[in-house]
Amino acid sequence: MTPPYAIDNEMYKYKGHVWWDDNESPATLRFFINPIRFAYFLRILDVHRGINYSLNTVLDVGCGGGFLTEEFAKAGYSVKGVDPAEESLDCARNHALENGLNIDYRAGCGEHLPFPDASFDIVLCCDVLEHVDDIQVVLQEISRVLKDGGLFFYDTVNRTWASYFIVIKILQDWPFTAQHEPRSHVWEMFVAPEELCAAMASAKLIHKEQRGLSARGSMIRNLINLRRRVQGKISFRELGERLKFHESSDLRVSYMGYAVKAASEESDRERAFRKLGQRLGFNKSGDQL
Ligand SMILES: C[S@@+](CC[C@H](N)C(=O)[O-])C[C@H]1O[C@@H](n2cnc3c(N)ncnc32)[C@H](O)[C@@H]1O
Repeated sequence: MTPPYAIDNEMYKYKGHVWWDDNESPATLRFFINPIRFAYFLRILDVHRGINYSLNTVLDVGCGGGFLTEEFAKAGYSVKGVDPAEESLDCARNHALENGLNIDYRAGCGEHLPFPDASFDIVLCCDVLEHVDDIQVVLQEISRVLKDGGLFFYDTVNRTWASYFIVIKILQDWPFTAQHEPRSHVWEMFVAPEELCAAMASAKLIHKEQRGLSARGSMIRNLINLRRRVQGKISFRELGERLKFHESSDLRVSYMGYAVKAASEESDRERAFRKLGQRLGFNKSGDQL
């Protein structure tokens, strides 16, 4: 289907300075979604740490102002962020500096990541897949820079009637309740969970789990609170507290999940060397057993 209008990804340039402003729309991402997805990713990492001990290096693709990038840096990971919008990167760099965080922010896009193959243990791509023209190309790049067995974390928006009504109509189009700028999202670019799984599989990213990111409470009460925010009676922070976003089993609107990069197949030559090494008492990295 041809989208009725083009997505406005330019806003991450001309509004790139407002990421950390409590009164601007990115606050919805920071107050509503970021704490829930970060808690989920940490929980998955705890499980995987038992299997793969070397989960230290993180790349945040489409990092924006660095909401998630900063959380990983504060948790002690070695973190890099990449985004095509230089203005957003400047904002992210300044905020990290003010908060004493060491994060390497670079200009680049998901379609051409400026890093060699197998550079990272973890790649994040959150609230970005619904902004790109071809998710397959971006997923191939993410897979390329991930090490074998590395983790890919994402969140995005499903393409359903519920997401059309909530994300496009209520949150974007209707002035009565809209929290986001016009053309922030295009419904046709939303990604159904099964499409994402298929695209990940083609990129050697093995799907593990998908979980919903949902608001609590009745639709009427939520609409009243959105209206109060538009009228300036409550802040984005208070709105977040009232909407009570949480992890759920409902994938109809926003959802998050993770995948594991499949190990590359061993070549005959590698297999022969590994077997020889085992016979001589060496492990995979060349240390004597
Ligand atoms: C909704 S923001 C999400 C920011 C951040 N990931 C977060 O969740 O806080 C979307 C981001 O995707 C970036 N973006 C747009 N097109 C992109 C592309 N082709 N590759 C990488 N990032 C892209 C935008 O510049 C913007 O910073």
